[in-house]
Amino acid sequence: MPEKIKGRKVAIIGCGFVGATSAFALMESGLFSEMVLIDVDQDRAEGEALDISHGLAFARPMDISAGSYADLADADVVIVTAGASQKPGESRLDLVSKNVAIFEGIMAQIKESGFSGILLIVSNPVDILTHVSIQLSGLPAQRVIGSGTVLDTGRLKQIISQRLGVDPRNVHVRILGEHGDSELIAWSSAHVAGIPLEDFFNMRSAGSYEQFRSEVSSLVRNSAYEIIDKKKATYFGIAMAIKRICECIVRDEKSVLSVSNSMQGEYGIEGVALSTPCVLGSDGIEVRMPPSLSYKEQAQLKASAEQLKEVIAGLDL
Ligand SMILES: NC(=O)c1ccc[n+]([C@@H]2O[C@H](COP(=O)([O-])OP(=O)(O)OC[C@H]3O[C@@H](n4cnc5c(N)ncnc54)[C@H](O)[C@@H]3O)[C@@H](O)[C@H]2O)c1
Repeated sequence: MPEKIKGRKVAIIGCGFVGATSAFALMESGLFSEMVLIDVDQDRAEGEALDISHGLAFARPMDISAGSYADLADADVVIVTAGASQKPGESRLDLVSKNVAIFEGIMAQIKESGFSGILLIVSNPVDILTHVSIQLSGLPAQRVIGSGTVLDTGRLKQIISQRLGVDPRNVHVRILGEHGDSELIAWSSAHVAGIPLEDFFNMRSAGSYEQFRSEVSSLVRNSAYEIIDKKKATYFGIAMAIKRICECIVRDEKSVLSVSNSMQGEYGIEGVALSTPCVLGSDGIEVRMPPSLSYKEQAQLKASAEQLKEVIAGLDL
């Protein structure tokens, strides 16, 4: 008998709010034929696998189970959402020591499993943990991707879309740098369907463009803090961002997303992972595109990198 053709297998490590919501979004998407859920809390993984599998009759068939690291050997994509999450008042960088220790254990087991697919890091601080995972997983850097500012960019497009009355998919603007307090909005290249954002703003709205930018920036920057204050955790937005990243990989879409990736000297930045635009496909990051930035934005990107590098310098890997 010839061998069956290979299906599409995803594994999620960490089945808390983010892991479980992402598993649900991926089940609904029909992108994968098999999904394995792993958590230190085995009951949690089993419960989520059962609950999510009860939606299959209303979606498309696939295998969903709770598993172990041995199941990663033939996985195409492994998503890591394990670890502590932000508590009200905590920044993402406050999570460093707890989550780096958790990642050392997880990366050792991923390596031992023989996994050779694409590793998607979501736990925070995501840029630091992406850097740590590149160092410890044994995978080529292009196959270790952090969800980075994909979510922040989605939030930004949605807020601009609401304010200016246009489909968020026609708003072209990116958040770059750290997924966190030092991130920057690349306003200088922002446009709506080819029209500079400032011109579109003047067509659709009265008032000061500067004030619009400053209000939008603070809404985006504070949105995670606001959600965490109000409902303890954020998970629906990131689940959709994870689904979108998986779509690019599994369907080899070669779409451009601002994911966290290892910098190779662009703008003099290296030795750190942060978000810049990348072409994403079935081999992971295919092309890393130096973003088009004003001098002020270049300085902000460098400052964001410096902040992350200080944290990396304090790690004992
Ligand atoms: N990158 C983003 O845009 C983004 C967005 C939201 C949340 N997050 C991050 O995602 C992470 C998860 O958030 P959450 O709200 O789901 O937290 P949560 O506390 O609900 O879930 C974390 C899960 O990880 C599990 N876990 C802990 N240690 C583990 C280990 N060694 N191996 C396997 N599983 C382990 C826990 O048992 C728990 O089920 C946090 O770090 C959070 O900050 C990132």
